[in-house]
Amino acid sequence: MDFQKVIAVATRRGIFQPAFEAYGGLAGFMDYGPVGVRMRRRILEVWRKHYVIDAGCLELDGALIGPESLFQASGHLGEFDDALVDCKSCGKQFRADHLVKSGEEMSREELSNAITGTACPGCGEELSEMSSFNLMFSTGVGAGNGSPGYLRPETAQSIFLAFPWLLRQNRGKLPMAGAQIGRSFRNEISPRQGPLRMREFTQMEVEHFFLPSDEPKLSDELRNITINLLTANGNETNSTVGEAFDSGIIGSSLVACHLARAQHFLVTIGVPSGKLRFRQHGSNEMAHYSSDCWDGEINTSLGWIETIGVAHRGDYDLSAHGKASSKEFRVAIPGTEKEMETWVPDIGKLGKKFKGDAKIILEAIKDLELKPNISVDVNGKSIDLTTEYMSLKTERRSEMVYPNVVEPSFGLDRILYCLLESSWKVDSDREWISLPQSTSPYDLLVAPLMTKDGLDEKAHEILKAAVNVGVDAYYDEAGSIGRRYARADEIGIFFSMTIDHQTLEDGTVTLRERDSKNQSRVSIEGAINKVRR
Ligand code: GLY
Repeated sequence: MDFQKVIAVATRRGIFQPAFEAYGGLAGFMDYGPVGVRMRRRILEVWRKHYVIDAGCLELDGALIGPESLFQASGHLGEFDDALVDCKSCGKQFRADHLVKSGEEMSREELSNAITGTACPGCGEELSEMSSFNLMFSTGVGAGNGSPGYLRPETAQSIFLAFPWLLRQNRGKLPMAGAQIGRSFRNEISPRQGPLRMREFTQMEVEHFFLPSDEPKLSDELRNITINLLTANGNETNSTVGEAFDSGIIGSSLVACHLARAQHFLVTIGVPSGKLRFRQHGSNEMAHYSSDCWDGEINTSLGWIETIGVAHRGDYDLSAHGKASSKEFRVAIPGTEKEMETWVPDIGKLGKKFKGDAKIILEAIKDLELKPNISVDVNGKSIDLTTEYMSLKTERRSEMVYPNVVEPSFGLDRILYCLLESSWKVDSDREWISLPQSTSPYDLLVAPLMTKDGLDEKAHEILKAAVNVGVDAYYDEAGSIGRRYARADEIGIFFSMTIDHQTLEDGTVTLRERDSKNQSRVSIEGAINKVRR
């Protein structure tokens, strides 16, 4: 199975196709069809089971467009860019790091040197100087020019901003993890590989917050998971996650936990463990927010494809938002409570001087550590609060710290592509998608042998009974039964049920298993029970 064939089958069988084709298409955007939507939903169900239901992450569904101030603080406006070169003759644009071998691992300076003299891959003419291209999609919020807004480049930022809110839902306890499934947007330079490089894509992300002095430990269950690792200095290992952590290959226990969880998740949805590895980023490759990062990569006909990133983001994001916004993103360090002198607002003096605005001032400073000469924004006007409006009070208080974060981030579209390619099986008489039942698009094909003698009515009756107990069933009466099995195999339907004349006599059906092609004669009820997940 190769890339072109996956794309052809995906289009033919309603999995996905390029978007907006009627208008010539728009690179980097895809539509998912009836079968693709089901496969995506199934993968997401397994992901939610792993991370939200079993691991207890607090789920969020954040807004897609954010204000400029957010992305200035997060570093995306300043640093989230790719190196761009244009062809001086044909005008085509290229990512500079895609034009030279190992370009993704080079610093900007190395890259600039390496591409000097490289010709345009399209027409062979000269390329421009390298420049930086920011990957954020911008828009205006509100009428006229509005205020600048940006489509989120990762779901993560809504989880960071929601940290104080989530912490309250968690009764102030750390460690705590937020999780989110949703679309993100990146204005990629010339995306060409269908679902592998998209400008609008779906992420599943977890932000796992913890006190730097109390990092979650590796459980025995996660320790024992076997994993392939490729370190930044090129060492390949195959060991348990516990061994890799004990020997220092993985430097953080929570990163180790999430590598193990990610490995377990990918194998559960059907990625063969032999096609899976985690590759550590070199320092030139790391995103601006991370101090260590491992990509979960799947081996395909196009080489190793990154589908997951497990990044240690330290306190980068919470401290950035804590400093740039008016909210408190720090938490108290347990055991550090002591008597401290703190500034508190003098409500009487504030009221006398600022009248109705005093309420706005008090609201603005309620989560802040009050200091003399702090500026507060009141209806667009900046007010300096001097010691005249505050007094010193002795209170028992704790030292405060920004929690650290480890983030596993999953790209659904790439995972689906890799699953399709890696689960494609071919033998002399058929081709089929061999996925576990949990990620197959349907549990069951219901097929009357023929559409006469009441067989189709009986099949509809069975279909209804199966659907009523939660079976994802698909009805097909068109063509020979062999042809219907072939179509069902091609989209990976897990079981097929045939209704024939004997069904009318004794209430039994033929149940066929997709992978083994084994057929058995069983009661209708027995078949439905077997097929239920
Ligand atoms: N949140 C990590 C990423 O989007 O790459």
